Amino acid sequence: MIAQQRPRRLRLSAQIRRLTRETTLSPADLIAPLFVRYGHGVRNPIRSMPGQFQLSIDQLPAEARTIASLGIPAVILFGIPEHKDACGTENARPDGIIPQAIDAIKAAVPDLLVISDMCFCEYTDHGHCGIINREGDPHYQAHLPEGYLLNDPTLALLAEASVIHARAGADLIAPSGMIDGMVGAIRQALDADGLQHTAIMSYAVKYASAFYGPFREAAESPPAFGDRAQYQMDPSNRREALKEAALDVAQGADLLMVKPAMPYLDVISELRRAHPHPIAAYQVSGEYAMIHAAAANGWIDLQRAALESLIGIKRAGADMILTYFARDAAHWLA
Ligand code: PBG
Repeated sequence: MIAQQRPRRLRLSAQIRRLTRETTLSPADLIAPLFVRYGHGVRNPIRSMPGQFQLSIDQLPAEARTIASLGIPAVILFGIPEHKDACGTENARPDGIIPQAIDAIKAAVPDLLVISDMCFCEYTDHGHCGIINREGDPHYQAHLPEGYLLNDPTLALLAEASVIHARAGADLIAPSGMIDGMVGAIRQALDADGLQHTAIMSYAVKYASAFYGPFREAAESPPAFGDRAQYQMDPSNRREALKEAALDVAQGADLLMVKPAMPYLDVISELRRAHPHPIAAYQVSGEYAMIHAAAANGWIDLQRAALESLIGIKRAGADMILTYFARDAAHWLA
């Protein structure tokens, strides 16, 4: 007679559950996003993202030390410029907000990894992720549709700004605009400048998502017209995610990202199977805001729900998670 299977034997105590656990979460898996702006002594709370702030440069050393002391290996930076224009020129200024932020962080904690989110939406006056075909603007091409994102002129700007951020000390460049050819253009520019050691974390699979809402308040980057559907992916598509990832791998991406995370766990798991590259998942602002909002209403437990969301993302196949819960989670896990 076959002995009866009783899976509950392996759930009897905390220790046996720990022994048989298939997926683990550690502070080493987490990347903390930071929003940086001009000013002094600035710590602006972001209304829709409890516990998150826009910080001025002088706040970064203490922030970096706290993050590093929790065992979190990396931060990703989003800059809010002094001045926005049609081409987002401040993104490529050697004394711009991001190079200054990198300086401050590296001076305080040299081995904390700094990732630069490489996009133009915070820097352009129209809030799109690159140069837009607008009558009167520098790159206007009459034969192309009004409002069209001009792909290749944007590549040149991305390449230029990436070199500036890498020279300032960014360890990884993370292009997030879903511009065709962005990884190749950045790789080429970095190599030509002797920056062959700077890695590229590509937002390879980024969907046109409703879950970015709170971020656009935090980064002051909502599009002034239209939406991002002409460059970000349609949420209905999974095979296209494999295509996007393969293109970025061919262009030299070192790490691949899927974004958002929770609504796209199947995509994370497909990429995990298809590529040996490290896979990052971005638990975005709306995912964070939802969990906080429900917890604030007393409908779910904040800590348990946050940690469950993170372990689910890892179980799907992510090696690392960009999350606004990074500090809290590291603290809870300690
Ligand atoms: C910039 C960028 C966005 C996010 C990360 N990089 C905004 C967007 O695409 O609109 C969203 C992050 C979040 O919602 O937490 N392109």
